[in-house]
Amino acid sequence: MSFPERPINLLVTGGCGFIGSNFIRLLLGDGSPGMPVKSLVNLDKLTYAGNLENLVEIADDSRYQFVKGDIADAELVARVLEKNLIDAVVHFAAESHVDRSILDSSPFVQTNIVGTQILLDAARSADIKRFVQVSTDEVYGSLGDEGFFTEQTPLAPNSPYSSSKAAADLLVRSYCHTFNFPGIITRCSNNYGPFQFPEKLIPLFISNARNERSLPVYGDGKNVRDWIHVSDHCKGVAKALWQGKPGEVYNFGGRCELQNIRLTELLLELLDKPKSLIQYVKDRPGHDLRYAIDCSKAEADLDWSPEITFEQGLKETVDWYLEHEAWSSRILSGEYQKYYQQQYGEALSSD
Ligand code: NAD
Ligand code: TYD
Repeated sequence: MSFPERPINLLVTGGCGFIGSNFIRLLLGDGSPGMPVKSLVNLDKLTYAGNLENLVEIADDSRYQFVKGDIADAELVARVLEKNLIDAVVHFAAESHVDRSILDSSPFVQTNIVGTQILLDAARSADIKRFVQVSTDEVYGSLGDEGFFTEQTPLAPNSPYSSSKAAADLLVRSYCHTFNFPGIITRCSNNYGPFQFPEKLIPLFISNARNERSLPVYGDGKNVRDWIHVSDHCKGVAKALWQGKPGEVYNFGGRCELQNIRLTELLLELLDKPKSLIQYVKDRPGHDLRYAIDCSKAEADLDWSPEITFEQGLKETVDWYLEHEAWSSRILSGEYQKYYQQQYGEALSSD
């Protein structure tokens, strides 16, 4: 049965990051799939990857409220859930970059595992009706040249990032099994689109190429990722929230496999920059070879499918980053965070 029959009060965690901010814009925008939301609280710690500027145009929406805080702060999370009569949680908040997890896994364990456990306990106490755990195809490990990840593929994460996400997924699974908790897990392939922190491949390479800096391709560049536009992923998460079945896992992918080197060449073509900017560098330790998603379950059960072609999406994404060069600079320098701190101090951090 679909959930619910009325507009809901929703808690989104990590809504100031790349995918979370696109998701909030989708839900509060005109083309929102599913029921309209009655209220939406965005709980975000504003780490290096979270930025209020990503949501500037909806900051004054009367249905929207921002709370600066940590999902691992049990008291705060309980207060937010109770005070706002939250019906459902969509959980994006995470440390999300594989390379950072290789340098230091502790924030990944703290936020992705401990934070999720604290959120789950609070959500259970508050008797919420849906909890969507936004996860990644990386929990399945790495594929060879053939085959696809399905929802039945055993979890075999290879990086500290993906293992922390797999641990969180298993906690959600166990809460569904043990407590009849209404959790739903979504696992998506590599997202691209506007507002992605410029440490990930596509925005980093656009920024470097634009500034005539080299593009560091790891290893031989033959690793394969399946790319999906962030708006297609967000529509999938919304469908999982409203139509998904508690206890189920749904894979989302773009049906768009590309070797990193081919993607790099496409970016250079779109930017009209020479291939001489490509620089092969030392491989990422433990670098997964290939990710590819079978999303037929989401297509059949959620009536979802990726709509944006890679050709169209990549072109629009390149144009967006070119038009928002100042955004990238501010994000990278942390200027907006400094501005926020100066303007509001901790005043906006309470719920
Ligand atoms: P991101 O790094 O851009 O954003 C993460 C957000 O979480 C930031 O706003 C950050 O401030 C916030 N955050 C981090 N720690 C927090 C904490 N302890 N408490 C509260 N907020 C905290 O990440 P993203 O790329 O938008 O990814 C969002 C989710 O989607 C993650 O769970 C990620 O694992 C998953 N995912 C990402 C991709 C991808 O390609 N980017 C693909 C599949 C799944
Ligand atoms: P990334 O955007 O970090 O996403 P993920 O590791 O979650 O897939 O990387 C995408 C692919 O691009 C991955 O195979 C690693 C590779 N890569 C590079 O070759 N150079 C880079 O500078 C970065 C950031 C990634």
